[in-house]
Amino acid sequence: MTLNPRMEDLLRRIEEPIRNRFSGRSPRELYEPMAYLLEAGGKRIRPLLLVLSCQSTGGSVDSCLDAAVAVELLHTFTLVHDDIMDRDGLRRGRPTVHVRWDEATAILAGDGLVTAAYESLIRTSHPNAALAIRRFTDSLTDLCEGQALDKLFESRPSVTPDEYLDMIEKKTGRLIEASCGIGALLGGGSEGETARLERFGAGLGRAFQIQDDLLDVAADGGQLGKPLCSDIVAGKKTFLTVHFASRADQGMKKRLESFRGKKGWTAADTAEVRGLLASAGSFDAARRAVAESTEQALEALDRVRPSRSREDLRELALSLVERVS
Ligand code: IPE
Ligand code: IPE
Ligand code: MG
Ligand code: MG
Ligand code: MG
Repeated sequence: MTLNPRMEDLLRRIEEPIRNRFSGRSPRELYEPMAYLLEAGGKRIRPLLLVLSCQSTGGSVDSCLDAAVAVELLHTFTLVHDDIMDRDGLRRGRPTVHVRWDEATAILAGDGLVTAAYESLIRTSHPNAALAIRRFTDSLTDLCEGQALDKLFESRPSVTPDEYLDMIEKKTGRLIEASCGIGALLGGGSEGETARLERFGAGLGRAFQIQDDLLDVAADGGQLGKPLCSDIVAGKKTFLTVHFASRADQGMKKRLESFRGKKGWTAADTAEVRGLLASAGSFDAARRAVAESTEQALEALDRVRPSRSREDLRELALSLVERVS
């Protein structure tokens, strides 16, 4: 992901309080695993969206930095627990917390990260702070519901495209939407402006998860920082597998299903899964869906008052389509 120097500078400002968040705290047994994934990097798109949304409604970085740190901490919590739920061993290029330590440590590190997220958020002093805290809390409720659906769908024989969309809008879309909304509120944006930035975030969130589903199979394994084809092994209902189920014949479906639960994944397995999905047109359909949701996001953004930050948000949305991790 390449960003302009202004956004790179914002990322550096966001990075500092994130990196120092737990320094000097004890016990080490709690704070080390909490800091471990935070320090492994990540794209930081949620705090970046929050700060840019705040600026685009007239606010300053200082007025929203605590909230920006809060959304990244909350996101990091969801990753630690998601990797337990998805039984994944690699995240941001490192062994996951439950693999590096153990499950009890990872569950507690997640709990600690949610608490730390609220600790940061409630430091925000702004007339709209209560509204921002409410957005944040509601997004977490929806995220939990989305994760529940994601797990439930593993054991469902089929899922409709609408059910899939509802699930991803909750598990991924809402926090991205809330990041934009919280930024807009802390910038002092009007109700209409906040709603437009939230609509932008919702479209972007949808595009983001469809792209994440696509990258699970199509990415360069060395760049992804996560295991390749983890969704296929887990039997997830992703954009690719839902589309594939609507196009493939029985033989092809059986073949894809045979990779579920497979141990010792090989490059040949990846190649065969790619071949199956490509022959059903599922990659092309995913790319079209990403483009369409991004377009819908940008239409909402067009109705936000013109500013440099608004143009940065546009650039960020377009660069996410090109991301490799
Ligand atoms: C991964 O999020 C989880 C999803 C919601 C798809 P990111 O792709 O933003 O992960 P990092 O923060 O860059 O590692
Ligand atoms: C992530 O969905 C959603 C949340 C973490 C809330 P995934 O399970 O697809 O995310 P990755 O691919 O593990 O990052
Ligand atoms: Mg996962
Ligand atoms: Mg998951
Ligand atoms: Mg994924």
